Amino acid sequence: MRSLELKTYPEPCLRIKTKRVEKFDRSLKDILKEMSDIMYPSGGIGLAATQVGLGLDILIADIGEGLRAFINPEVVETSGRKTVLEEGCLSLPGVTVEVPRPERIKVKALDEKGEAFVKMYDGLMAKVLQHEIDHLSGKLIIDYLNPVRAFFAKRKLVRSKREAVRE
Ligand code: CO
Repeated sequence: MRSLELKTYPEPCLRIKTKRVEKFDRSLKDILKEMSDIMYPSGGIGLAATQVGLGLDILIADIGEGLRAFINPEVVETSGRKTVLEEGCLSLPGVTVEVPRPERIKVKALDEKGEAFVKMYDGLMAKVLQHEIDHLSGKLIIDYLNPVRAFFAKRKLVRSKREAVRE
């Protein structure tokens, strides 16, 4: 397998709608390893497969409590108020967006071995998981902006990427 790399806006893979993982084999283990090798040095606390160009229902997260893998994740319930957190995204360098999301979520997923689990999350982990699950349907935090602010954010991203290529 060629090694994975972080994809940034406007790479089309960020808009992919992902497919469920059916096989829990060696390659899944490799994918998870490569994703964590990308997430940690970048300073991220979550990473979705679309961000490394893969159209699979895979995300990882670590808010300082250890690395967790979520395969085929689904939000089965949300509760609590919607609260706003200023979120960033490794695929949208230099952009932050205040995103309102429910405080608590119940997530159903499989772990890296294919074992099913259902768990409630709140606080930062609930926000990170909702952010990453958005990625798996091709949704980005800039989609929460009004059209005018989204236009300026996208323009800024495209310009800074063009400059980075030129350097
Ligand atoms: Co993101």
